[in-house]
This record gives sequence, structure tokens and C-alpha cells, in this order.
Amino acid sequence: MKLFIDTADLKEIEQIASWGVLAGVTTNPSLLAAVDGDEVSIYRRITELVDGPISAEVVADNREDMVTEGRRLAALHPNIVVKLPTSEEGLQATSVLAGEGIRVNMTLCFTATQALLAAAAGARFVSPFVGRYDDIGNDGIEALRETVDALMGSAYEVEVLAASIRSPIHVIEAAKMGADIATIPPKVFHQMLKHPLTDAGNQKFNEDAAARRARQGG
Ligand code: G3P
Repeated sequence: MKLFIDTADLKEIEQIASWGVLAGVTTNPSLLAAVDGDEVSIYRRITELVDGPISAEVVADNREDMVTEGRRLAALHPNIVVKLPTSEEGLQATSVLAGEGIRVNMTLCFTATQALLAAAAGARFVSPFVGRYDDIGNDGIEALRETVDALMGSAYEVEVLAASIRSPIHVIEAAKMGADIATIPPKVFHQMLKHPLTDAGNQKFNEDAAARRARQGG
């Protein structure tokens, strides 16, 4: 499973990108609203930090405006993927943009039926939301599993991009069920890495190495 980062915070992207683990980036209007700066400059900087699909979301409510904004975003860089909601207007715009060779990531996807429609409309990525199901007391992992199963062996070139990830458990479960990608908040990346036994073991190794050097007069 490929790992994307879900943020528009350039410092967070730069830090996790330094680990050598990122295959792409996803943003959305809320994540963009959380950072200052010119939108185009932010997207352009992200394409410099991570060499992979960079999702930039359209903010419009009709096909024509979605298509116009999608073309504008796609023209910023070859790695820009246009993000559209899994709505009727989003499907309409996806089929137009996909027909022009522009890659689309259909987001706010909550059911396997929505995912099937997104794939059929030409979306290259489908983003089933996990955490927002959990937020209302439902089982986001089971919903994701249904979408992964439904798109398994799809006749279309589409990748399941697990989104709305809230914990390392979500990442593990997405990987175990065969999701193609998980887009992960910076905080969860740190949770994935950190373990007290690693820290304690590393400290002990360093102490023992220092003690040996001292004995050797090093
Ligand atoms: O960016 C799409 C998705 O990952 C957002 O997730 O945390 O707002 O439910 P969240």
C-alpha cells in the first residue's frame, strides 16, 4: 500500500517527506483553510516536495465551474490530480476532465456504489472516508472493505485511496484489506513511527557503545 500525506502544511509535508516514505499528497478546502499563503504557490511547493500525485480540490457546485477550475488546477503541474466530490455534478465534471486526460480523485465517497460510479465515470482515484463513519458510530473500516472488494479487479484503471484516516489501526486495516493507498494525517505518521521499546533499546545500545569506547580508551 502506498502512503500519501493528508495536509496542506508545507512544514509537515517537508518533515515526513524527509523520511522517504511519501508517494503522494492529498489536500482539501478545510486543510487549505488551515494554512496561510497563496493557493497556487502552496500547490507548486508541494509538487517540489513530493514526486507523486498531488490532489487539489475543486470548490464549485456545478459541472461547468468544476470543469473550468479542474482545468486550471491540472495546468499547474503534471502531478496535480483534480479532486471532486462524489456527487452528480462531480460525476459530470469527472467524465469531462477524464476525457481530456486529466486525472481525477473522487472524494467524500462513503459507499461502494458511489465508488463504482466514480470508477465508471473515469476517476483514477476514489477516496472512501473511514474516520467520518467512525465519528457517527458506524464502522468505517467495514465500509472501506466493501469498496475495496467492489473495485477489486475493476474494469477501470482506478485506485482505492483510503481517506479520513484517524489512527495507525486504520492504516494497518486498510493495508491488510488491500487498499491501494492510504492518505494519512501528519499526526498519525508520528504515531505510526513512535514506540517506547525502540527508544529504550536505542538508548541502551548507545550507552553500551559509549561504555565500550570508554573501556577502550576511545
Ligand atoms: O482529505 C480528505 C480526508 O482525508 C479528510 O479527512 O479527517 O477531514 O475526515 P477528515
